[in-house]
Amino acid sequence: MFDEFAPALPHGGDLTYASAVFGEPDEPWQDLSTGISPWGYRVINIPSHVWRDLPGANTLLCKAAAEYYQSRPEFVVPVPGSQFALGQLPLLLPPAAVALPAIGYAEHAKAWQQAGHQIVFYDAIAQLCQLAEQATVTHAVVINPNNPTGEVCPLNTLEFLHSILPGVVLVDEAFIDALALPSAVILLPSLPRLCVLRSVGKFFGLAGVRLGFLLNSAELAEPLRQTLPPWAIGHPAQWLGERALNDRAWQLAQRLRLRDAQQQLLTLLQRFVGAQCTLAGGGLFVTLRGPWHTLMHLYQRLAEQGIYTRWCHWPEPTGATVNADAWLRFGLPIDGGTRLARVLTTITL
Ligand SMILES: Cc1ncc(COP(=O)(O)O)c(C=O)c1O
Repeated sequence: MFDEFAPALPHGGDLTYASAVFGEPDEPWQDLSTGISPWGYRVINIPSHVWRDLPGANTLLCKAAAEYYQSRPEFVVPVPGSQFALGQLPLLLPPAAVALPAIGYAEHAKAWQQAGHQIVFYDAIAQLCQLAEQATVTHAVVINPNNPTGEVCPLNTLEFLHSILPGVVLVDEAFIDALALPSAVILLPSLPRLCVLRSVGKFFGLAGVRLGFLLNSAELAEPLRQTLPPWAIGHPAQWLGERALNDRAWQLAQRLRLRDAQQQLLTLLQRFVGAQCTLAGGGLFVTLRGPWHTLMHLYQRLAEQGIYTRWCHWPEPTGATVNADAWLRFGLPIDGGTRLARVLTTITL
C-alpha cells in the first residue's frame, strides 16, 4: 500500500519532518511534496462580516459547485475537504469487501479498514474489473487520476463497474480539474450508487480552506449531510469557494498555467532519469516509477539540498521483493523548475 505519509508523521507536518530527518537546508525548503497548486486563487478583501458571522445556508455555494461540476445543486454535498467525505462514507455502509488501489492515497484504505470493511487491493484498473467480474468485492474505490501513479479509469469502465457491482463505486477526482479529462459527474443521473469526490484544495490552491464536495444522485448524499455538524463549512470557506468556483476566467488561466508547468516538469525529469524510470503526469504532479534504491537515492539527495518530494513506497524491499519498484512524486515548482534543474546537475543516478 502506498503510504502518503512517513510513519508516525502528523498530517500537515511534512517540512517539520523533513527538517528533523535531513536537517535544515542552506536555502529554505522548496516543498514539492504536495499536489496542491503552487498558484492559489487570490484571496482579497473578504468582508469583515464573513469573518464575524456564522455561515448561513450554503445555497449559493451549492449552485456555484453544481455549475462548475456540471451537475445539479441537489446532488452536491459540501464538506470540509474531500478527506472528510472519504472518511465518512465507509461508515455509512454495512461491512463488505471493497477494492482499493494498492498504490494510491492511503487514507482510503485507512477509512474502509477502520469502518470494518474487508480490503482487496488491485494493481491496475484491469485487475479491478476482474475482481468485479468474479464478484470478489461489493464496493470499489477509483482515484481518477490516481495519486501517485497517474492511472486513469475511463468513464465506460466506471459504468461497467457500476453495472456489475452491487455496492458503491467511489470515484475520487481530487486531482482531475487540471486535466482535460471527462468527469464521472456526468454519469450521476443514471448511476445511483456512484459517488464522486471533488476537492477545492488542489486545483484552486486552497487546501487550507478545507472545502470539497461529494456528489451523488440518490440515497447516499443525505446520510452524508447528516454526519456534518452545524456550520461545518466555515463562512470564509463558503464565501471564497463560491467565488473561485464561479470565476471562469481564472480557471481557464490556471488550467493553462498548470498544463505548461506540468509539461516543463515532465521534460526536466525525463531528461534527468532517461530510461531508468517511467514518468506519469497527474496534472498537478509528476511521478517517477523506478527501482526502489535509485529513487531513494534521488529523494535523499534532493532533500539534503532542500527540495522535498513525496516518497510513495515504504519500506525497503528485501528477499523476493528486492527488485521492487517505488514511486517518487514531484509537485509543480513555482519557479518553473529552475532550482530543481540546478540541484539535479549535482546528482548522479
Ligand atoms: C487522492 C486524494 N483524495 C483526497 C484528498 C483529500 O484532499 P482534500 O481533503 O484537501 O480535499 C487527497 C489529499 O492529498 C488526495 O491525495
